[in-house]
Amino acid sequence: MLVSATKMLNDAVQGKYAVGQFNINNLEWTKAILTTAQENNSPVILGVSEGAGKYMTGFKTVAAMVSAMIDELNITVPVALHLDHGTYDGCYKCIEAGFSSVMFDGSHFPIDENVSKTSELVKACHDKGISIEAEVGSIGGEEDGVVGAGEIADPNECKKIADLGVDFLAAGIGNIHGKYPDNWQGLDFDALAKTKDLIGDLPLVLHGGTGIPADMIKKAISLGVAKINVNTECQLYFQEATRKYIEAGKDLQGKGFDPRKLLAPGYEAIKVIVKEKMELFGSINKA
Ligand code: 13P
Repeated sequence: MLVSATKMLNDAVQGKYAVGQFNINNLEWTKAILTTAQENNSPVILGVSEGAGKYMTGFKTVAAMVSAMIDELNITVPVALHLDHGTYDGCYKCIEAGFSSVMFDGSHFPIDENVSKTSELVKACHDKGISIEAEVGSIGGEEDGVVGAGEIADPNECKKIADLGVDFLAAGIGNIHGKYPDNWQGLDFDALAKTKDLIGDLPLVLHGGTGIPADMIKKAISLGVAKINVNTECQLYFQEATRKYIEAGKDLQGKGFDPRKLLAPGYEAIKVIVKEKMELFGSINKA
């Protein structure tokens, strides 16, 4: 069932668990995540970066594929199709294309411009029943060519953006996209707690879910994080399983070159890591 992410994340705040956002790249990724969510009776958010949207030939293709797949596979758990780190124009394209949720990443704009663009988009989304995430304090690391410095968001700026009526908020707390460097300082829980105090029950989003130790994930959830984004880890699992298949020479045996066989180990590997994350985030049986 394609739904906005508002209710599933408000439920997660109340129930003290988090819903995973898993980014998709193609049909195999989408099918792996949807079937795992259904098998575990978990709500799920499919994240689509602007780069991945372009790769899949455009947001309309993505929206059509996801809604048809939900139908064909009888997926009854709540699924949100969410634009990840959207530009201003990208958000409008996804609203038109049939996404049920968008993130407007105005974190690189001066706060006043982030405020004006975010409030305009809040109205455009809510007019159509679509949920919207905003970001304060850029998330470090690189994602699709967008490089952030990994700031700690100012709790007062978070409050300012929260008050615009966004449905959930990504606040940088030292988290970064991709693998964490050896000298990473960990998450800043003081900043998270201060933001939580100011914004109340608004669900918080933790980007850069790959490689954050389980105890930090649990603490973040206890402090109001209700959505955790995971991208790189699925890619690494897919890569490792595909490499093993090729290195074992399986593509050279029989019909092992058939893409449905060649991509199968990677598909199964994504299912394994997605289930592991759902267990850690506590979203199993919360559909
Ligand atoms: P990772 O690639 O580090 O898991 O981050 C994903 C993310 O935050 C998408 O917005």
